[in-house]
Amino acid sequence: MINVALPKGRLGDQVYDILAKAGYECPEILDKKSRKLVFENKERGVRYFSVKPSDVGVYVERGAADVGIAGKDILLEHRPDVYELLDLGIGVCRLCIAGYPDFYDDTDRPLKVATKFPHVARAYYEEKGRDIDIIKLHGSIELAPILKLSDVICDIVETGSTLKENNLVVLEEVEPVSARFIANKVSWQFHHEEILAMKNALENGEAHKL
Ligand code: PRP
Repeated sequence: MINVALPKGRLGDQVYDILAKAGYECPEILDKKSRKLVFENKERGVRYFSVKPSDVGVYVERGAADVGIAGKDILLEHRPDVYELLDLGIGVCRLCIAGYPDFYDDTDRPLKVATKFPHVARAYYEEKGRDIDIIKLHGSIELAPILKLSDVICDIVETGSTLKENNLVVLEEVEPVSARFIANKVSWQFHHEEILAMKNALENGEAHKL
């Protein structure tokens, strides 16, 4: 059995669609009422785990899952030691710096940056040589500049609606983001054929080669 860590939530449905198209279906996963976390397709030899999107890299790096699907944002933030095999071309969005349209950067003091992605934000501003003060939040990041908790935010922008509805704009683009098919380094050696077959099946669907 190949163990697959699947992200729950927004990305989860899209991920399931492409797995099903690639021939690795498991319709039980779609039952939103179920609280089950482990699903199997014995015929295809796959076992799925439903995990928090930000935890996919942990499961794969430590070998609890052989492969998984994680957003590039999560991979950039947590830098798990895994192989990135495919860009799946879904979950497409951008990591951006956002704030009020009239934002002025006062370089006499550290820039206050609210974010779920402290490592990404730090690396971005370090390269620019800008001193920052990170305010780590876990959600509703857009509130931070509104309440003057921060000067700007470093966050995901997908449709742009959250920014627009809160009178904020993209000030700078940090990185484009999409979902990646990742593999544990040992599993890639020892279950090479099965993982390669899965990669190829996904690739022949909608995925893009890296
Ligand atoms: C994410 C992100 C933005 C929003 C962007 O939040 O942090 O707030 O989506 O999407 P949009 O550009 O399509 O509006 P999420 O919905 O994951 O909720 P959160 O605020 O609880 O993190």
